[in-house]
Amino acid sequence: MTRTVYVNGNYLPEHDATVSIFDRGFLFADGVYEVTSVLSRKLVDFDGHWVRLERSLSELEMANPVSRDEMLEIHRELIRANDITDGRVYLQVTRGNPGDRDFVYPKADTQPTLVLFTQSTPGILEAEAPKTGIKVISIDDARWGRRDIKTVQLLYPSMGKMMAKAAGVDDAWMVEEGHVTEGPSNNAYIVTGGKIVTRQLSHDILAGITRAAVLRYAEEAQMVVEERPFTIEEAKTADEAFITSATTFVQPVVEIDGDAVGNGTPGPVAGRLREIYLDESLKAAI
Ligand code: PDD
Repeated sequence: MTRTVYVNGNYLPEHDATVSIFDRGFLFADGVYEVTSVLSRKLVDFDGHWVRLERSLSELEMANPVSRDEMLEIHRELIRANDITDGRVYLQVTRGNPGDRDFVYPKADTQPTLVLFTQSTPGILEAEAPKTGIKVISIDDARWGRRDIKTVQLLYPSMGKMMAKAAGVDDAWMVEEGHVTEGPSNNAYIVTGGKIVTRQLSHDILAGITRAAVLRYAEEAQMVVEERPFTIEEAKTADEAFITSATTFVQPVVEIDGDAVGNGTPGPVAGRLREIYLDESLKAAI
């Protein structure tokens, strides 16, 4: 099926949608993005993603080309046009096309580029990974120093996923100065000493929208959350490990660098958090 996508005010068949070769998103990875999950035709935590988009743009002195209500309408129109029941809406805002290649930012009145597209993920809630758990390897975190900004500069995360694939596992956990930062496209957690441990927010990691929701639900369910760095060694001896993101929700990690976490099967805390997260997200989706 040919998808309908959105480019700068127009809804077009994907093959007719174009962006200039001078677009700074293409030349400099000068742009930001968001991924919002669609469940039962509704958007999960649209406003969380909107607020983070505004922050990413403001950190890079970029303008938002649309209002919150316009952005919501574009999301909804693409869900309708592409008949998405379960899936994702991807959005990218770049600093646009100033006409020439120049490292210096163009004049503030340069029109940003706004692109949105959908991907369908039928049956995602019945997927195997949450039942069996995933395996990860640890790799060096070789990204830039402003990981709190959700930029389209995704080459190292892609390389990390390829390192995981070459090692025959599902994903990677990145390590900096001896401590886990996060996954290439998700936040990382362990369960140890009866507490859920995840790295505190800073420029070192992305403030996951799923992370914020899961930590809130965990505290509401009287679980203890500790925001601090942890090592791969601590993770290997933890009772449980898991990741969160808009595309995986809550996903158990059962093996790190070839060593089983806990008894090597998905643990009860990750399972419970996944259940609460999906229940509450479905209720609050718009
Ligand atoms: N990735 N950390 C990184 C580096 C990420 O790229 C992501 C999301 C997250 C989790 O954030 P959230 O819970 O808001 O999805 C953490 C998206 C899903 C992606 O790039 O496809």
